[in-house]
Amino acid sequence: MAEPRSVIIDTDPGQDDAVALLVALASEELDILGITTVAGNVPLELTTRNALMMTELAGRPDVPVYAGCDSPTVRPLITAEYVHGKTGIDGAGLPAPSGSPRAGHAVDFLIETFMNREVTTICALGPLTNIATALDRQPGIVERIDQLILMGGGFFEGGNVTPAAEFNIYVDPEAAAAVFTSGIPLVMMPLDVTHQALTSDERIEAFKASGNESGRVVAGMLEFFEHYDMERYATDGAPLHDPCVIAYLLEPDLFGGRACSVVIETTSELTMGMTVVDWWGATNRPPNCLVINEVDDDGYFSLLVHRIALLP
Ligand code: RIB
Ligand code: CA
Repeated sequence: MAEPRSVIIDTDPGQDDAVALLVALASEELDILGITTVAGNVPLELTTRNALMMTELAGRPDVPVYAGCDSPTVRPLITAEYVHGKTGIDGAGLPAPSGSPRAGHAVDFLIETFMNREVTTICALGPLTNIATALDRQPGIVERIDQLILMGGGFFEGGNVTPAAEFNIYVDPEAAAAVFTSGIPLVMMPLDVTHQALTSDERIEAFKASGNESGRVVAGMLEFFEHYDMERYATDGAPLHDPCVIAYLLEPDLFGGRACSVVIETTSELTMGMTVVDWWGATNRPPNCLVINEVDDDGYFSLLVHRIALLP
């Protein structure tokens, strides 16, 4: 097996983040240098607590968790308890974590880690506040990041918080603009692809069939998480967003997309946080991002189920 890939996962758990964390923690192809938490789906204290619960559930308390920014760079925080429940991972049915986050701010951890290593990959599952703050404090990290894969944005699919904007980008559009103009090699998993990766009773049962605690917890979280989107979109399942980022690292051939220019709206309140994707090359703006719009959804869920089955 090739050398494990060094990654940092920046996240705002949320049930879909939690599944992504478990899949990553189960995968020996990844050397998770740390998990950095950010305010998003729920406030920072809860996203941090939830990340700790996932490292402990996975039997990986060795993976450090660092708490990051508790509010966006410019705008007030908005959260999404209406989707994720009060705790952010309603349905998990887990006790409080026994461990604590490491001392020190996530942004300091990001900067120190990037500056002391050849290259590191970032998996961004929430608002981009921590990453933009690190970029602002130490622009030199750009050369030390070989790829940043993020769940965020939408183009033909529109938005899920406003008609124009997806949650992760909408919460901190200024941070997203900083990341999308940084020059870091980007891969974007927008709603256009995550809305093709829908949960179903059969797919949730497959997690349960693992017979392990992790499979039970994943099934419980997804059974809660899917309600909001199923009602909203009148579909038989909900998009399982964030694990797409980890699945791309593990099996990139499950996905397809196109290198495009992506610019973030940070001026108009009407379209604030919109990811303006030049899919048809209407401008002469150079591509700054690989935009994913296809997924083999059966292959995706099969990967997730097999990796979760490896956990305690
Ligand atoms: O819009 C979906 C994204 O926002 C996901 O990352 C979900 O966890 C929330 O953070
Ligand atoms: Ca998330």
